[in-house]
Amino acid sequence: MTPLLDAAERLSREELAVLQLERLRSTLRHAYDNVDFYRRSFDRAGLRPEDCRSLADLARFPFTTKSDLRDNYPFGMFAVDRSEVRRLHASSGTTGLPTVVGYTQRDLDTWADVVARSIRAAGGRPGHTVHVAYGYGLFTGGLGAHYGAERLGCTVVPASGGMTARQVRLIQDFRPEIIMVTPSYMLTLLDEFERQGVDPRATSLKVGIFGAEPWTEEMRREIEERFAIDAVDIYGLSEVMGPGVSQECLETKDGLTVWEDHFYPEIVDPFTGEALPDGAEGELVFTSLTKEAMPVIRYRTRDLTRLLPGTARVFRRMEKVTGRTDDMVILRGVNLFPTQIEEIVLRTPGVAPHFQLRLAREGRLDTLTVRAEARAEATPEQRAEAARAIAEAVKEGVGVSVSVEVVEPETLERSVGKIKRIVDLRGLRDPRAT
Ligand code: DLL
Repeated sequence: MTPLLDAAERLSREELAVLQLERLRSTLRHAYDNVDFYRRSFDRAGLRPEDCRSLADLARFPFTTKSDLRDNYPFGMFAVDRSEVRRLHASSGTTGLPTVVGYTQRDLDTWADVVARSIRAAGGRPGHTVHVAYGYGLFTGGLGAHYGAERLGCTVVPASGGMTARQVRLIQDFRPEIIMVTPSYMLTLLDEFERQGVDPRATSLKVGIFGAEPWTEEMRREIEERFAIDAVDIYGLSEVMGPGVSQECLETKDGLTVWEDHFYPEIVDPFTGEALPDGAEGELVFTSLTKEAMPVIRYRTRDLTRLLPGTARVFRRMEKVTGRTDDMVILRGVNLFPTQIEEIVLRTPGVAPHFQLRLAREGRLDTLTVRAEARAEATPEQRAEAARAIAEAVKEGVGVSVSVEVVEPETLERSVGKIKRIVDLRGLRDPRAT
């Protein structure tokens, strides 16, 4: 199958660099002229937009962080008149104020274009039906996917998240080729298919476009196998745009192609902020190249990954995100990410792909309990064996001791959107300890 490509996807690396520099310089100018925050932050660094003469010069400019966005709540980061803003989205955030983002009509068009390009890279074509089970509303997932699918010429089923039994019915009746949903909610759908006695391998679905949370190659295998579909990764964040900042191509499934004509990626050392070369693992940083309402300069995503050369496209790829710096658990001096546990749980026989991490404090020591759900058919011996195998694999692979509880089937909370893997009980007092 020859993929159809946008004009930008057909540029050479050199042509792309010329386009990026031109767009970068005009974005820096736009941000400096129209957003007090950027004017002050560039001035403090002694830099003017025109000091950016090459793409490498960007590394001299200051970062923007989530707390900068919060400090300027709600509209302080906007670079256009309020009358030009056509849409607002916001991410709830776990603490404090939400982060608000705004889009001009042209931003919404760009967004629809990059999501359309993403769906096409995933194998979607005009005429396909796309079931969108990302949440609609202030979260960018639902509406972002929706307008992109329409832009490509697909029929959209705006299912949103939740009402899981109805989702299964809709998939059977409307016969979509494509589903867009978080990987954890796809597993919730899987349970529901089985509960209704419907074979999940026999649906019309051919491709799943999964994102909004980290997921592993083991999860890809599980979903592909259980649903008989291709599973590809989509990445994005509201501060930069929403879904469609990068997308895995169906023909290679080797990480996500960054749509570099609109979003300029860098990798930096999460501790020192030093720019790192391609290939090195670190924190992903994005500068928007075409955004009008809310340009972002060197935005710290807190997501950890590496930049790799292009394969299916001329654009660079990013490796699947390993985790967020804020999801990293430091357990007795060892760094651990939920994705590392996911890999282990998903390859352990006898347990289902549902797990939760409980952090607690015993005396001065932090402890971690992996709670994984038994498969219905697993015998008590198999459950005990699974617990032992998980503990051993974590000890060996991650280098730290954890407790493992294999709990009854259907007891762990199911995802309806982004799943929360970590339950932190460290602030709570043990009622038995009074
Ligand atoms: O989650 C946008 C999105 C919607 C992306 C639907 C893909 C599909 P936020 O709510 O602002 O936006 O959350 C952004 O989610 O910084 C990552 O930590 C995480 N994330 C998003 N996509 C992926 C992915 C949307 N494919 C935050 N892999 C990001 C790993 C992801 N993490």
